[in-house]
Amino acid sequence: MITQPSEIYHHHILQCWSTQKDYWPIDVERAEGCWIHTKDGRRIFDLRSAHECINLGFNHPEIIQAITDQMAKVSYVTDDFATDITAQLAQKIVSLCPGTDKKKVWFGQSGAAAVEAALKVARMVGYGRVMSPTSVKDATNNEQEESPYYPYPYKIISRYRSWHGSTMGALSVSGDPRRWFSEPIVMPGVVHAPETYPYQSVFDQDPEGLKAADYLIHMIEMEGGADFVAAVLLEAVVGSNGIIPTPKPYMQKVAQYCKAKNILLIIDETMTGMGRTGSFLAIEEYGIEPDILIMGKALGAYIPNSCIVLSEEVASFFDDHVFGHGQSYSGHALAAAASLASLNVLEREILPELETKSAYLKQGLESLSSKFKHVGELRGKGMMWTMELVKDPITRTNFRSFNQKYQETPIKDLSRFLLEECDVYTPTDKFGLWIVPPLVVSFEEIDWLITQLEKGLVYFHEELV
Ligand SMILES: Cc1ncc(COP(=O)(O)O)c(C=O)c1O
Repeated sequence: MITQPSEIYHHHILQCWSTQKDYWPIDVERAEGCWIHTKDGRRIFDLRSAHECINLGFNHPEIIQAITDQMAKVSYVTDDFATDITAQLAQKIVSLCPGTDKKKVWFGQSGAAAVEAALKVARMVGYGRVMSPTSVKDATNNEQEESPYYPYPYKIISRYRSWHGSTMGALSVSGDPRRWFSEPIVMPGVVHAPETYPYQSVFDQDPEGLKAADYLIHMIEMEGGADFVAAVLLEAVVGSNGIIPTPKPYMQKVAQYCKAKNILLIIDETMTGMGRTGSFLAIEEYGIEPDILIMGKALGAYIPNSCIVLSEEVASFFDDHVFGHGQSYSGHALAAAASLASLNVLEREILPELETKSAYLKQGLESLSSKFKHVGELRGKGMMWTMELVKDPITRTNFRSFNQKYQETPIKDLSRFLLEECDVYTPTDKFGLWIVPPLVVSFEEIDWLITQLEKGLVYFHEELV
């Protein structure tokens, strides 16, 4: 009989985005702080924070206690009943997000579920704008004119360099090649815009993303403008597609345009929220208020939780229109307990020293990158960094192109080396090495990480390229 978990996994559990025959996960004994302790006595640093869900490290006692206490009271009731904990969480989220205190929250259990909800809300509001124009006002508080066109604003503009999740709507708006697994039967009405990626921009010299913003606006006009476009969906810092911070002038220009035209701006902070980029939300730096904000991953800490936060204006639309969406387990009390405790820990322990810690990490990474010629660019913010590794630093050629997602590269071998020889579990994408540690990482652990990454980069330069 098979008893090792890894063997059972091998036989009975599917690994995501992989062929299965070589799937052999590592058997885990326990996990604490930034470390995973394996059954064969190893101690591995999780440099990807468990898919960026474990911002506060594994097994934080305060979060565990909050979940345990809540479990003794109530774990889940439907939204016909109200629990203290879910109410407090909603209130807290509303207070932490930009905009008035009349915002509303809907809870899901994954980033993708929240994205699906956001897309539906955008289309419902778009429909309402056409079918009952007096219910939605534009930025100058004028009532919308009724559109003479069929059908209603339904198009979603998102970006090629993006990832919003693997459910049908979420992957349709994602530009990432993983959407191709479901094509051609994906959600209609999505148009992808070029990315703002100064290092390898499709626009000649566009450090502030203003050419990309103009192009996106042009696309909206060509797609029929506000009569047809319901929303623009952006990540504040592109995550799974290369850790690319969105330039502030781009974001502000697009936000301004959307507001003026009554097109909703949806910001997906599934990966960037909960302190990842140095502040509670990455958009804090932009001074914008999205119509719909998406959070997930680290929001729930150890219990899956995600949410969309609707601005006062969008929320009020549903005063007289049916919110045509729902999910069992929405507003789960255990998840709320984990989220609320996480927010308290984040505010009290993490955010106050995050700027200093992020600067320390950045400095270490900068000096490391400067030693290695195949590190094309070091990019990121706060505790979310990538070293883009390039075959040719002059031409900035990657080891594989965007459409060769599943082709092996030396970057994968670097990742293997770091795991097997240096006890560092590193996320890699096709473009580079990620440095996304739990926010509780200590200064000593940062020093240790830099040393291990250096060993990896020496190996990469001497053996792999
Ligand atoms: C920005 C963003 N949105 C949505 C998702 C999907 O989240 P989940 O995997 O929880 O469905 C991800 C996942 O990586 C993400 O990075």
